[in-house]
Amino acid sequence: MELFDVYPLYNVTPVKAKGAYVWDDKGTKYLDLYGGHGVISIGHTHPKYVNALTAQLNNIGFYSNSIQNPLQKELAQKLGEISSCENYNLFLCNSGAEANENALKLASFKTGKSRIISFANSFHGRTSAAVAATDNKNINAPINLQQEVTFLPLNEIDLVIHEIGKGDVAAVIIEGIQGVGGLDEGTTAFFKEVEKVCGKNNVFLILDEIQSGYGRSGKFFAFQHHGIQPDIITTAKGMANGFPIGAVLIQDKHEAKYGMLGTTFGGNHLACTAGISVLDVLQEEKLIANANEVYQHFLQEIATIPQVKKIKGKGLMLGVEFDFEVGELRKKLIFDKHIFTGGSSNKNLLRILPPLNITKEEISQFISALKEVLNS
Ligand SMILES: Cc1ncc(COP(=O)(O)O)c(C=O)c1O
Repeated sequence: MELFDVYPLYNVTPVKAKGAYVWDDKGTKYLDLYGGHGVISIGHTHPKYVNALTAQLNNIGFYSNSIQNPLQKELAQKLGEISSCENYNLFLCNSGAEANENALKLASFKTGKSRIISFANSFHGRTSAAVAATDNKNINAPINLQQEVTFLPLNEIDLVIHEIGKGDVAAVIIEGIQGVGGLDEGTTAFFKEVEKVCGKNNVFLILDEIQSGYGRSGKFFAFQHHGIQPDIITTAKGMANGFPIGAVLIQDKHEAKYGMLGTTFGGNHLACTAGISVLDVLQEEKLIANANEVYQHFLQEIATIPQVKKIKGKGLMLGVEFDFEVGELRKKLIFDKHIFTGGSSNKNLLRILPPLNITKEEISQFISALKEVLNS
């Protein structure tokens, strides 16, 4: 059997990783400024994480959601405390798309409505309602057209008010900072107005923090830069440093009912252990403070590169925009300088999503390499 060939691949085969570094099968060492799409939050193979998962695997790795699993409660409690979201309840699943799927379904159950408002260049995943709410026709199949979604430009509040006024909207879904789309984001005024109009009209505000959450933006969730309280928050990538997990955080004014949501694998013992150790390390090593400090250093250093047109994003969720396509630049960074970076649907933008324990020295190493490649 061959693999179903859906991914264009770089010809690099990582076999080992530690902190912000990855080694390939030939022993070449790479600086990882991409963390496998922003998944590596506390650094590769962090010893606390490895020890916690190994110990858990030796006890019990999995049982379904029909028994008591105190690890789920421990994860919920720690997440509530560390994220300052104690007035939310937690539903665990296995991926970002699944988190959004459940969030949209919950909004529809609760409102009795089905239309979704989403935004230009958004990405919310590849499953049914999540892909329909994603602004990319190429990844929507005919079966996904059943879902009614209206795409609006970011920061055009009058259009949001107009659509919600029609009375058939279940949810507004919006990324804290757009990831795949290219690091654009709503203004504080926009987020606040969207929260207000949703609240007045019984429309669920869903904040997709799958990429921007878990400290990546310099606050636990990116929406916390804007002082709002969404009805639902979804998160995934950085949550378990590579162990598959997804989460839906639901404001506690919205009640649960048996059978409303469910999953076989979600919230299993290994996933919870991975999630708990990520939160422990985030807190003990003050990684959100580090994200903010390293961000300031990044801004100072990148300002010395005249070819850079714009910096987008916040914290360690960054986009570096040029006035040319960055495909070749990314190849040179990987193969000549041994540095992983990411792309986005904005072809002129380099996406930087390093582990949150990256150092200023490692950022300086990237800046020097970038200068050399740009001037070569
Ligand atoms: C903002 C956002 N939402 C949802 C998803 C989907 O997550 P997953 O690939 O885990 O299904 C992604 C993945 O890139 C994302 O960036």
